[in-house]
Amino acid sequence: MAGIQVKNLVKYYGKFKALDNISFEVEQGEILGLLGPNGAGKTTTMRILTTFLPPSDGTAIIDGFDITEKPSQVRKIIGYMPENPPLYNDMKVCKFLKFVAKLKNVSSKKIAEKLEYVENVCKLEDVWNNYIMHISKGYRQRVGFASAIIADPAVLIFDEPTIGLDPKQIKYTREIIKNLGGDHTVILSTHILPEAEMTCDRVAIINRGKILAIGSPTELAQKIRKVDAVRVEMTGPSNEVKNTLLELDGVIHIIPQERHSVFLVEFEPKWKTREQITKAALEHNWSILELTPVEASLEDVFLEIVSTQEKSL
Ligand SMILES: Nc1ncnc2c1ncn2[C@@H]1O[C@H](COP(=O)(O)OP(=O)(O)OP(=O)(O)O)[C@@H](O)[C@H]1O
Ligand SMILES: [Mg+2]
Repeated sequence: MAGIQVKNLVKYYGKFKALDNISFEVEQGEILGLLGPNGAGKTTTMRILTTFLPPSDGTAIIDGFDITEKPSQVRKIIGYMPENPPLYNDMKVCKFLKFVAKLKNVSSKKIAEKLEYVENVCKLEDVWNNYIMHISKGYRQRVGFASAIIADPAVLIFDEPTIGLDPKQIKYTREIIKNLGGDHTVILSTHILPEAEMTCDRVAIINRGKILAIGSPTELAQKIRKVDAVRVEMTGPSNEVKNTLLELDGVIHIIPQERHSVFLVEFEPKWKTREQITKAALEHNWSILELTPVEASLEDVFLEIVSTQEKSL
C-alpha cells in the first residue's frame, strides 16, 4: 500500500517552530493538496517526507516505510519536484534526464522508452537538445517535473508544480497531475485556490505550521457554511418578486444580480427555502427560469479558516 501516514510532525528551525504537530493521511492513489499562504510550512513538510530534512519530532510512514528509520527505501519510491528543481546547467536536457533515469535505477532496456515518455508528456521536444543553462524558467520547471516522474515512482511530491508556467502549460500540467492520481499517490503544494480545487481529491489547509482543516473541497465548503444561497429568476415583475422573496422564512439577504430579474437569495441552511420559493412562484403564477444553489468557494473557506486562526492568536 503506497499510502502515506503523517504522524505528529514537529519541526524547529532554531527556536522557531515551523511545524506544530502535523498529522494527516493520504490514501493510495489519492491526490492531496497542501494549501497555505507563504511561510505556512508546505515546503518544510515536503522536505521532511522526502527525507531531505529530519523532523524534530514525529514521523511519517510512506508505503510502509518509516521516513526516519528507512530513508533510503523511502527515497526509492518517491518522485520529488522541489520548489527550485536542481538541474545541471552544463548538460543538455536529454542527457540530464538520461542521467536522472540511470540514477533512479531505470533499467537500460527501458531508458529510451522513459525518455520518449517524458519528452512527450512534459512537452520538451523544442528544448530536447538544448543546454539547460539556455532554457527558460518554465522549461526548467518542466524538466524538474520530468525528473520527478521519469522512474514512475508510486508516490509523487510536487512543491508548487505550476509556479512560473504560462497559462496554457499550467492547465496542461494540472491535467497531467490529475491523470497521475489513481495509479500514484500524490501530494502537491499550492497557494492557488482554484488549483487545489481543480486538481486535488482532498485539501489540507495549512497555516503557521498547523493543519486547520482537511477534506474534499466540497466538504470543506460545507463545514464552514453559515448561510446557503440560491440564484433565482422568475417571470414576475422584479419588485414584486423581490418583496415576495424577502418575506420567506429564513431569508437573510436578497442581492440583485447582473440582470434586474435575477436575485441571489441568502438564507439560513435549516430553512427549506428552495421549496418555499417554488411554492411562492406557483401561488403568483410565475414561472421559475432559474433556481441554482450557489456553493461557498474554497476561497471563502480558506479566508474564513485562516482569519479565524489569526483572530484567536
Ligand atoms: N532553513 C530554514 N531556517 C530557518 N527558518 C526556515 C527555514 N526554512 C523555512 N523556514 C521558515 O519556516 C516557515 C515555513 O517555511 P516553508 O518554506 O515550509 O513555507 P511554505 O509554506 O513552503 O511557504 P511558501 O509558500 O512561501 O513556499 C517560514 O516561516 C520560513 O521562514
Ligand atoms: Mg514553499
